[in-house]
Amino acid sequence: MKKQKHSRIGGRHQPRREQPADAIVEVTIERILPGGAGLAHADGRTLLVALAAPGDRVRVRIERVQGRVAFASIAEIVSPSPVRVEPLCPYFGRCGGCDFQQLSYEAQLAAKVEIIRDCLRRIAQIEFTGEIPITPSPNIWHYRSRAQWQHDPVKKRLGYFERASHRVCDVAACPVLVPSLQETLESLRGQMKESLLPEESKELEAVAGDEGASLVSFMPGHPAREVSRRIGEHHYRFSAEGFFQINHELLEPLITAALSDARGETAIDLYCGVGLFTLPLAQRFTRVCGVEASVTALSYARHNLEDARLNNATFETARVSDWLAENSVRLAPVDFVLLDPPRAGAEGGAIDGILALKPRHISYVSCDPATLARDLKILAASGYRLDSLAAFDMFPQTHHVETVAHLKTE
Ligand SMILES: C[S@@+](CC[C@H](N)C(=O)[O-])C[C@H]1O[C@@H](n2cnc3c(N)ncnc32)[C@H](O)[C@@H]1O
Repeated sequence: MKKQKHSRIGGRHQPRREQPADAIVEVTIERILPGGAGLAHADGRTLLVALAAPGDRVRVRIERVQGRVAFASIAEIVSPSPVRVEPLCPYFGRCGGCDFQQLSYEAQLAAKVEIIRDCLRRIAQIEFTGEIPITPSPNIWHYRSRAQWQHDPVKKRLGYFERASHRVCDVAACPVLVPSLQETLESLRGQMKESLLPEESKELEAVAGDEGASLVSFMPGHPAREVSRRIGEHHYRFSAEGFFQINHELLEPLITAALSDARGETAIDLYCGVGLFTLPLAQRFTRVCGVEASVTALSYARHNLEDARLNNATFETARVSDWLAENSVRLAPVDFVLLDPPRAGAEGGAIDGILALKPRHISYVSCDPATLARDLKILAASGYRLDSLAAFDMFPQTHHVETVAHLKTE
């Protein structure tokens, strides 16, 4: 006989009713979780409901079951949440890009602050009682100045991956793109229709600067066009081949928050890209060292430093963990470390390397609250106090959020 599965409800073990995939259940969405799904409960099981709003009463279809967790999609809205709004984009729901369009902008901001607190509590075991201010995006549409489009040469589709799939959702107009990237998308679609897009170009990357768009070249050996952006008093050059932040309108306040009141002798800028933080740091510190793995990004960083007439910063092309393993002990103690890693957070060995630098003050700029919390847990256990947190809505209409955390020695 098959063993009956049991779940724990109200402290007692009770038989759990199995919900087959495709079953429909009616639930109320309690809140939005990290990752962007709505949380609900039914029959002793946790439900993660895509594209939900907190307070929605919905009938959901169970798509997939994994132990006590079921992944579900909305089959019918029985009674909409007061914060639910009509999504603007015709591709909403199919395109995997924007998963917060069903929320009013105020509700998006509130959900992001809750996501940060949730990650701190559950992953870092830090109960942060202070305020987490969130700076809204000046533009909540047409803000995105970097894009990665998927190309299906067989079906002649160009756009983004569909939700939870590697099928390409053919997108004619994307309302979060800045106008110059929308024009680039249209021009690429024209080329695709005339079979002028190379079949092997499955992923196309573009960024926008003050001069228009830069697209990664189809032809090997031909670099992407250089563009630039003025952010505050600095001028940054970059191209589609190196990282540059997505939402340019928020970069001045992001830099101000990331540097805070930091000043002193030595600052280290880890994952420095084209030097977004290195230039303002060089105005505040006697010596700055930027570390970055991309040769292309660092070549722009050197130009950007020269354009700013600053000569007190050096750049190292290396993986952060490798560079720290070789240099931390020699450089310790330093006044300030700023790190701005990719979504995966600091790679293995990097946090230990930062600890070996013995910084007085650490500023962690992160685009993923979960990996931020994972790394903060280690820093907090090693004697650093979480001094402040600030969020920036760099990615409206999505669950993503940028966070700046300041840590100081106890
Ligand atoms: C989120 S971006 C931040 C860049 C820069 N701070 C900015 O704001 O423009 C992360 C950067 O880390 C670089 N990177 C990724 N993994 C790295 C590693 N293991 N070591 C050094 N740099 C890395 C990427 O090339 C990218 O430029």
